Amino acid sequence: MRITIVGTGYVGLVTGTCLAHAGHDVTCVDTQPDRVAAVNSGRPPFYEPELAEMLSSALGEGRLRASNNTAECVASSEITVLAVGTPCCRGEIDLSYLSAAAAEVGKGLRAISDYHTVVVKSTVVPGTTDTLVRDILERASGLSAGSFGLAMNPEFLREGSAVADFMDPDRIVIGHWDEPSGQALAEIYRSFDCPKVFTTLRNAEMTKYASNALLATLISFSNEFAALCEATAGTDVEKVLGALQLDRRLSPVHNSVRIVPGILSYLRAGCGFGGSCLPKDISALRDYAVRQGVVPRLLDAVAAVNASRPAQVVAMAEEALGSLRGADVAVLGLAFKPGTDDVRDSPALAVIHQLEDKGVAVRAYDPMVRAIPGFRVCGSVRQALTGADAAILVTAWPEFADLDWTALSQIMRRPIVVDGRNALAGSNVPEGLNCIPIGRHFRPEGVSLAL
Ligand code: UGA
Repeated sequence: MRITIVGTGYVGLVTGTCLAHAGHDVTCVDTQPDRVAAVNSGRPPFYEPELAEMLSSALGEGRLRASNNTAECVASSEITVLAVGTPCCRGEIDLSYLSAAAAEVGKGLRAISDYHTVVVKSTVVPGTTDTLVRDILERASGLSAGSFGLAMNPEFLREGSAVADFMDPDRIVIGHWDEPSGQALAEIYRSFDCPKVFTTLRNAEMTKYASNALLATLISFSNEFAALCEATAGTDVEKVLGALQLDRRLSPVHNSVRIVPGILSYLRAGCGFGGSCLPKDISALRDYAVRQGVVPRLLDAVAAVNASRPAQVVAMAEEALGSLRGADVAVLGLAFKPGTDDVRDSPALAVIHQLEDKGVAVRAYDPMVRAIPGFRVCGSVRQALTGADAAILVTAWPEFADLDWTALSQIMRRPIVVDGRNALAGSNVPEGLNCIPIGRHFRPEGVSLAL
């Protein structure tokens, strides 16, 4: 099918490239000329495994191109997918990019005589597609919905494995307002072998939030237990959650082999979730709930627990050092999770700001993040740890566990590491390194445990 994708962010470009790979004819549209040029020359404007190779081959086969003329592209395609950002602004979803994109698409619809379906892929609160988007399309095109179609098709792509997630999806959710649009989406995804859920626009919109809210809830659930264990002598959250995960309802045993579902990796304590999706989706959903007259008690708690974790690792460093004022502290990891250079809403940024507020000189190292405006990022972990009074490990990069901690503890002024992800457990931590895990009652040396 001839498809226009509006937005060349990570959702739009991954979607466009993968649909071209699946045999469709795709035009990616963006208002930023440098993005259009980058896509046309086979350079994705961000890093995502496999994307550059697939983009080059789609361009080479003539199945993909980029343009900045939305209306023209819409007019020469059968389906348009809106994949622009819906950030969170002061706790509310910001639909301005989506509105602007829908207006341009509407102009393109004026020139079309064949039936055309407009699909919302951006994450939007329930009711957005059949009210705001529909109204804008109708006004800009002069047509009534029905002479064009509407669908909502949420994405479930994780940064770092977005291409693999797209090509081998768990499920495809297709919300459609009209029958032809449901059929058009079924056609787009014909070659994808997975459950396909055909439903209403609003169910599709809500499903996306429910999915991310569950992930965030599991993380905050785990972190609530981390906090409880930190306050309870004789407890260790790793043991507690490890034992909890052995419940066969969570990890079924089949032919004597235990199946470990991927979701269990979200049942781990840490210093909080981040990224461009979970935090903003929880905020947008809380705001939506309040507007609907629902008190989002659980989501409020999920957000509050998450906000408390960076302060907890800072407090642990403070307790170990006695005082943070004037200390040199290394932050290990800046990305919101391993495998990406994305620092949006990363817990590392909250940790850094809180340390700086306490008078700490902070330096940081991350295997993929080379610079943050206004902040010193070291070129090596060695450089970050040299002369440091303590380190706080914030991102669970696997290479941190493989470091030579015996040598590194000798270049630190004080060999103290707060392991904010319990990423060093099981690695070769030398006797001389005071490695403080999270979710375990912290007992400063020499203080006996009173049971
Ligand atoms: C998330 C969802 O996982 C995707 O399904 C969804 O499509 C996407 O948001 C989106 O809305 O666009 P992503 O933000 O890439 O994807 O992040 P995740 O890999 O889920 O990580 C989110 C948080 O969970 C991070 O802070 C990470 O540290 C934590 N996490 C991640 C875990 O605790 N365990 C894991 O196994 C993976």
